[in-house]
Amino acid sequence: MEKRDITDKIVSLCKRRGFVFPGSEIYGGLANSWDYGPYGTELKNNIKQAWWKMFVQQRDDMVGIDAALIMNPKVWEASGHLKEFNDILIECKNCHNRFRQEGKALKCPNCGQQEFTAPKSFNIMLKTHLGPTEDSASQVYFRPETAQAMFVDFKLILNSTRQRIPFGIAQIGKAFRNEVTPGNFIFRTREFEQMEIEYFIRAKDWKKYFDYWLEQMKNWLDFLGLNKKHLHFREIAEDERAHYSKRTIDVDYDFPFGTKELYGLAYRTDFDLTNHQKASGQDLAYTDPISGERFIPHVIEPTFGVDRSVLAVLCESYTEEKVKDEERTVLRFPKYLAPIKIAVFPLLKNKAKLVKKAQEVYNDLRKKYMCEFDDNGNIGKRYRRQDEIGTAYCVTIDFDSLEKGDVTVRDRDTMKQERISINDLDKYFQSNLSNN
Ligand code: GAP
Repeated sequence: MEKRDITDKIVSLCKRRGFVFPGSEIYGGLANSWDYGPYGTELKNNIKQAWWKMFVQQRDDMVGIDAALIMNPKVWEASGHLKEFNDILIECKNCHNRFRQEGKALKCPNCGQQEFTAPKSFNIMLKTHLGPTEDSASQVYFRPETAQAMFVDFKLILNSTRQRIPFGIAQIGKAFRNEVTPGNFIFRTREFEQMEIEYFIRAKDWKKYFDYWLEQMKNWLDFLGLNKKHLHFREIAEDERAHYSKRTIDVDYDFPFGTKELYGLAYRTDFDLTNHQKASGQDLAYTDPISGERFIPHVIEPTFGVDRSVLAVLCESYTEEKVKDEERTVLRFPKYLAPIKIAVFPLLKNKAKLVKKAQEVYNDLRKKYMCEFDDNGNIGKRYRRQDEIGTAYCVTIDFDSLEKGDVTVRDRDTMKQERISINDLDKYFQSNLSNN
């Protein structure tokens, strides 16, 4: 299958089955905005919850926050974003569309003309106004990264928790960038979500913790089920690094539309805390409770795009295969990430006893797992429908179930079926759907 073809197929499956819809579609859409539908929301939530569990819940040295999307504009002055967060663009002299100068742009992709202005710098912070007046005093910005609140709140967190260096602050939330060239489905959008960690350390330890966090990121990539062959770790040269970074490694993934950045790991030094200390006049130093040593902590930042995680998992999982001369499309998600864990079917929908029993089993399982009840069409069709959304298991209640109290459990990947006692279902799913 052509790579391009796969992207189109994934985009179309996402729309047809309710993973991701074009945003504002009934009004003709809004350039590159996307809405997560019912299954996409489940998948995205599963990824975010698993990330939180791995990096916050199961660690002693991490606490989480959930900060405001709009911060005091002085934050962005101090962080350098108002000055440095730019894209270099050229403008077509004929149609005035602006583009990133990627390689040697010889022809305008919009009108085909070949004359451009000299490259100019455009800030990509997304602006809005707070309050009823729209003057420069009310101008604010949507955060372009979740990171800054973790620096701005650093002292409050230190004072309200028992964390000592080294420790980290984590956050999941939306970020906004007025991207000049959004595109490739949910890969680059103007509104997206990040999962970020700011890990505070002593300057002398930065190399150790940089390596440590690279390993942690690899564990996470493994957890997402991404094939190591599709992942590349790229050292970013000094002139390409963000203004705050002294070392950056990008994690690239082989998306069907090209090998592109999935995540990043940066050594932000003491850049942010030092600048916020200067700009706010507040003391942001850390005092070691035992030695009394005072210093501005340095920071290692592993950053993970949520939407790019969803997209990579979709691309990795998308499979078309032939089963007994029939095509089947399967989303082979790691089972613990599947939007629907278990689908429950009565063998026949017009047999009241079967339907009643199936509903009992369904109501019991849904207390713990995201489940779906389906009595539409024949069993083969139901399996295909569930395969296409990546449902991990299908449970069928038949006449034997009424007598013997067992059901058929069918595995999405092997398509093998086994009889399991209704009483043992919870134990069975607990061990097969666990992510520990
Ligand atoms: N705090 C550091 C930071 O924001 P970044 O490399 O600019 O670093 C981090 O962004 C991650 O956020 C990226 O690796 C990517 O996963 C995601 N991301 C960035 N821009 C995005 C966009 N326009 N659309 C979707 N995801 C984006």
